[in-house]
Amino acid sequence: MIVSAKEMLEKARDGKYAVGQFNINNLEWTKSILQVAEELKSPVILGVSEGAGKYMTGFKTVAAMVKAMDEEMKISVPVAIHLDHGTYEGCYKCIKAGFTSIMFDGSHYPIEENIEKTKELVKVANAMGLSIEAEVGSIGGEEDGVIGMGECADPNECKQVADLGVTMLAAGIGNIHGKYPANWKGLSFETLAAIKEKVGDMPLVLHGGTGIPADMIKKAISLGVAKINVNTECQLAFQEATRKYIEAGKDLEGKGFDPRKLLAPGAEAIKQTVRDKIALFGSANKG
Ligand code: 13P
Repeated sequence: MIVSAKEMLEKARDGKYAVGQFNINNLEWTKSILQVAEELKSPVILGVSEGAGKYMTGFKTVAAMVKAMDEEMKISVPVAIHLDHGTYEGCYKCIKAGFTSIMFDGSHYPIEENIEKTKELVKVANAMGLSIEAEVGSIGGEEDGVIGMGECADPNECKQVADLGVTMLAAGIGNIHGKYPANWKGLSFETLAAIKEKVGDMPLVLHGGTGIPADMIKKAISLGVAKINVNTECQLAFQEATRKYIEAGKDLEGKGFDPRKLLAPGAEAIKQTVRDKIALFGSANKG
């Protein structure tokens, strides 16, 4: 069931669990995530970065693929098609293409400009019944060429942006995209608590879900995080399983070169990663 992310996030916030956003790259990724969401009766958000959208030939292709899979696979749980770290132009493209949720990442702009652009997009998203995520304080690390330094957001700026009527708010609390370095100091719960205090009921988004220890995830959820983004971890799981298959020479046995066989272990590994995350986030049986 393709929906905006609004209701699922409000339920998550009230129920003290988080909905996973899993980024997609192709058909195998999408199918694997949808299969597990249905199996565990969990709501899910499919994240699409601008780079991944381009890779899949454009946002229209992505929206059409997800909608068709939702129907053909008889998915009964709520599924949102969400632009991840969108530019201003990218947001409009995704709205046109039929996405049900957008993220406008104006965190690299001065706060006034971030507010101005977010405000305009909130108006459009609300009028069309789409959910919209905004960001304050950039998330560190690199994703699809977008590099952030990883700063903690200013709680007052978070309030200013939350007051614009966004559906959910991503705020930097020391989280970064990709693998965490060995000297990572962990999430700043002080910052998270201060943001929560300012923004009240606003569902908060934790980016960089890959590699955050379970106890930190649980604490973050208890402090108002209702959406957690995971991308790299599925990529690593896919890569590791695919490497094993090739290194074991399985592609050389019988019809092991058949792409459906070649990609199967990787897809299975994505499924297990998504299963583990859904269990950790507490969203099973909430769909
Ligand atoms: P990771 O790649 O670190 O899991 O981060 C995903 C993310 O935050 C997508 O926006």
